[in-house]
Amino acid sequence: MDRDEVLLKVEEKYYPPKHIVEGAWVKDYESLYKESIQDREGFWAKVAQELHWFKPWQKVLEWNYPYAKWFVGAKTNICYNCLDRHVLNGKRNKVAYIWVGEDNEEKKITYGELLELVSRIANGLKSLGVKKGDRVSIYMPNTIEAIAAMLACARIGAIHSVVFAGFSEGALRLRIEDAKAKVVFTASYTKRRGKKIDLLTTVKKAIDGLTFVEKVVVWDRDKDAELDGNTFIDFETLVKSSSPECPPEEMDAEDPLFILYTSGTTGKPKGVLHTTGGYMVGTYYTTKVVFDLKEDDIYWCTADIGWITGHSYIVYGPLANGATSLITEGAPDYPDPGRWWSYVEKYRVNIFYTAPTAIRMFMKYGEQWPAKYDLSSLRILGSVGEPINPEAWHWYYKHIGREKCVIVDTWWQTETGAHMITTVPSYPAKPGKAGKPFFTIEAAVVDSSGKELPPNTVGNLVIKNPWPSMLRTCWGEPERYEKYWNTIPGFYLTGDLATYDEEGYIMILGRADDVLNVAGHRIGTMEVESALVDHPAVAEAAVIGKPHEIKGESIKAFVILKQGYEPSEKLAEDIKQHVRNVLGPIAVPDEIEFVDKLPKTRSGKIMRRVLKARELGLPVGDISTLED
Ligand code: PRX
Repeated sequence: MDRDEVLLKVEEKYYPPKHIVEGAWVKDYESLYKESIQDREGFWAKVAQELHWFKPWQKVLEWNYPYAKWFVGAKTNICYNCLDRHVLNGKRNKVAYIWVGEDNEEKKITYGELLELVSRIANGLKSLGVKKGDRVSIYMPNTIEAIAAMLACARIGAIHSVVFAGFSEGALRLRIEDAKAKVVFTASYTKRRGKKIDLLTTVKKAIDGLTFVEKVVVWDRDKDAELDGNTFIDFETLVKSSSPECPPEEMDAEDPLFILYTSGTTGKPKGVLHTTGGYMVGTYYTTKVVFDLKEDDIYWCTADIGWITGHSYIVYGPLANGATSLITEGAPDYPDPGRWWSYVEKYRVNIFYTAPTAIRMFMKYGEQWPAKYDLSSLRILGSVGEPINPEAWHWYYKHIGREKCVIVDTWWQTETGAHMITTVPSYPAKPGKAGKPFFTIEAAVVDSSGKELPPNTVGNLVIKNPWPSMLRTCWGEPERYEKYWNTIPGFYLTGDLATYDEEGYIMILGRADDVLNVAGHRIGTMEVESALVDHPAVAEAAVIGKPHEIKGESIKAFVILKQGYEPSEKLAEDIKQHVRNVLGPIAVPDEIEFVDKLPKTRSGKIMRRVLKARELGLPVGDISTLED
């Protein structure tokens, strides 16, 4: 899409209904924002007081550029805040999660029951020798059991590293290896489109030869998995044989909570590290005020726990608020495209948070699907993961929100931990523009030297100041962390291109770097290229993103074959299958073009932007560094 065209198209404003503003946690964004900027630390200290600390902080922020410490000296436990706090406050019997499978099988768990399950798993982990600071990988479907495993780690201070269960063996192995996980949680399978997808075999292959993995705890869903009882042990047996009482570990606010791997421009995925106190405060507060979450709301975030959206807005944010959440396993459109809307009707969902790629998919199926259901319970609709194009925004507003809901388009990243730029339900939204910065956040659009650009100019989106839920480092690679802050000195570089208008609304245009965003999933070109050259026939490969109607972006690969191999459709399919095996279905190129040569700089770097420009019929730009 032409960018100028985008800028012109999005000038309407949608005001939140009066009753929503009147009842909102934040009624006046402008004055609270101003206040928050004048005293950032005071602002977050006030929020933090809504949570439980075993020991108070001595200092709210210690900023030793580019390293931040929040709530210095404080002790807390995020699992305690997510569970015990509510159980002690009369919410023992409140439902925490309603899980629904593809065949509408349903499971509910209350705060009291979840606390017991989590405590048992936590004790189970201790019995396996897991201690504070040890890493535990979790490769499980979007289920209550997986969430309980995450919380059990947090309870005893083990660092969890959740790996999306759609990733294949190569991607999983890399993540287990990098984190040096002592224990891996998995399930016998996950279900998608009516089929069982084997997870256990993938784990077996992924950990082959990794001697530091001591135990694999398997949630054996049909009680038929082959478990040796030595390395591979049964989840339920571990739960049943462990005590339901497990005092929470008193964690330092800056003790690590989890690692989550995400793609960067170069090299292998980076292990984004989040710590306890700041992350807890950031996810708690954004969940509360951006979604305007109230005590009796039914909240549904359609993400998967394998991504940051799942961590922050399925697990920690909603639980810290004591919410009742719906979670689902399987495909949104299986057995039919009415699945999600039937759940909104059945469970009377009030807050619904999804991704533009899903909305575009439902647009294609047609409005007759949501039209069959009573969606009148909905109040707040959220969007995340990629820019929402105005067409999709309008469809969401009309056919899901029935022109009565507020849409919050939340911009943030794995690294930011929580929402950074979004409207809140008390000031108008502009379709296609995320909105204004969240409280205490100062965002800017700058050129590569850090000079701030005027309105309606495209530049790099940066953040000017530290915030509580920011990443603290990249696991084992501090230099990669420092790059966020020293590429344009003084600013946190988001890697996104953006522009802002005269009213301060920020519009995100997509990534500035070689990171792809396929159906809201962040994938590094380098990762796909490595998987491609791992195929015996491939000598060299380059990957670009192409605009795609539903997925936002699709992957096209340019491949040079080794001598002795001839291009063919069969070979292209075989190469795609290889990428699927190594990385997973989300990283498979839609197209493979066999070429003899790739455009490179004189120093040998592939110029993907030249390939992309040629592919899209756009001007190639400066090619003075091109080899020939
Ligand atoms: O390009 C932006 C896009 O997703 C990137 C972050 O990806 P990830 O770390 O996987 O986290 C996704 C979920 C938070 C960003 O750099 N992105 C995310 N939300 C939006 C978005 N782009 C536009 N609008 C959004 N609301």
